[in-house]
Amino acid sequence: MLIAVGATLAILAPLGWMWQSSLLPDSYDVAEMGYVDWGGGPEGEHHGTGHGTPVKELVADPNRPADVREALTVHVEKGRYTVNGTSPGPTLEATVGDLVEVTLVNDNVTDGITLHWHGVDVPNAEDGVAGVTQDAVLDGETHVYRFVADQPGTYWYHSHQVSHEQVRRGLLGAFVIRPEAAQPEDRDELAVLHRYAEGATLNGEEGTTTVDAEAGESVRLRVVNTDNGLATLWVTGAPYRVLAVDGRDVNQPGEIDDEKYGVPAGGRVDLGLVVPEGGVRVDFGGSTTMVFGDDPSAGDDPRPPKTFVDLLTYGEPADIGFDTDEPDRRFDYRIGRRPGFLDGHPGLFWTINGHLFPDIPMYMVSEGDVVVFEIDNGSGENHPMHLHGHHAVVLSRDGVAATGSPWWIDSLEVRDGERYEIAFVADNPGIWMDHCHNLVHATEGLVAHLMYTGVESSYLVGGKPGNRPE
Ligand code: C2O
Ligand code: CU
Repeated sequence: MLIAVGATLAILAPLGWMWQSSLLPDSYDVAEMGYVDWGGGPEGEHHGTGHGTPVKELVADPNRPADVREALTVHVEKGRYTVNGTSPGPTLEATVGDLVEVTLVNDNVTDGITLHWHGVDVPNAEDGVAGVTQDAVLDGETHVYRFVADQPGTYWYHSHQVSHEQVRRGLLGAFVIRPEAAQPEDRDELAVLHRYAEGATLNGEEGTTTVDAEAGESVRLRVVNTDNGLATLWVTGAPYRVLAVDGRDVNQPGEIDDEKYGVPAGGRVDLGLVVPEGGVRVDFGGSTTMVFGDDPSAGDDPRPPKTFVDLLTYGEPADIGFDTDEPDRRFDYRIGRRPGFLDGHPGLFWTINGHLFPDIPMYMVSEGDVVVFEIDNGSGENHPMHLHGHHAVVLSRDGVAATGSPWWIDSLEVRDGERYEIAFVADNPGIWMDHCHNLVHATEGLVAHLMYTGVESSYLVGGKPGNRPE
């Protein structure tokens, strides 16, 4: 009897302790959670130790007038979000160099909302992460975002408040930044992929979208994956090229004939196509299709090719503009999974470097550092990893160096068992989320932050606005 009680206690006591220590306070500063990781670089000033620049002061030039002005009003009805009455919301367009000013209006969302400019490396206070870079915009409130659209490419916007719900239910839209000189292609088309409760859609439509294109026309097709999983696409009737990935041009992209392409959750790809006599067709995971001219498959659903385009070897090398041989910081982002408690709830959760949220690293950098991350996924599932505020270049996968075009990413599919090395220059001070864009995984603890020395927090997760970025 005593032994049984003793044995039960021996199990329950540590469980109780684990439960207790997993409880999150009503409000907290992300900069003070977990532990500080200096990545082998010099230890500078971390929040709490000094008088840093508050996140809220990291803004675009307040005296510069806007070139593009938009108002986006978010409304929710029966669990479906619209932006200015539609979902996907209106496509924002700017020319590189424009100062973009967007006024977000919360019409009736009681949880509050924000807008994050996915892939646009905006100043920190404009990044739209509730509890990190701003407070959630509550029912009836407005919030103004201002930033310079500094790199041409394909991007998107979405809520970063209760994002696992609000994004799935439609609070999103595309964002296209055009180069100063017109694109060489005849046509510029968009394919925003989103799966609503009713099924998969392409620009909000189910099934096949037909674009009335002439033979000989060249097309830039901008694909945006707003879902939680990889979007697989394949092209029938003509070869294609990968012109750009995550808003960065590929250097000398070659023709692709018999390979499919995978767009990570949150990621974008610009495809280049030339419409042949018989038409060309792009299939997105077999549920939505875009046809240019005639449908070359004439009724038969084309089957996907067996292999994926591998960006590790695609295109031709070019200078990346910095030296990665001796980085100033080197970090591990090792993803695992184990049972435990998250804020008092038992479950199977993701771990970062062996620890459960919030006992995770705060990756510390200083402005100007060359930073290398090693992302190692031993978790049993794939993770589309997204770092805010920066574009990183892929150095290697599973120890094999990249030999193609510089492969710049903001959203990287890290399959189970894979190990990637990526590098970037720390050139955008702030506190930046670095998380899995399967937004359900983010709620299950797959979230960390990159923080600059000399910066301090301005906002708290939780608290009165109910900030819940995931
Ligand atoms: Cu597209 Cu942290 O998000
Ligand atoms: Cu994940």
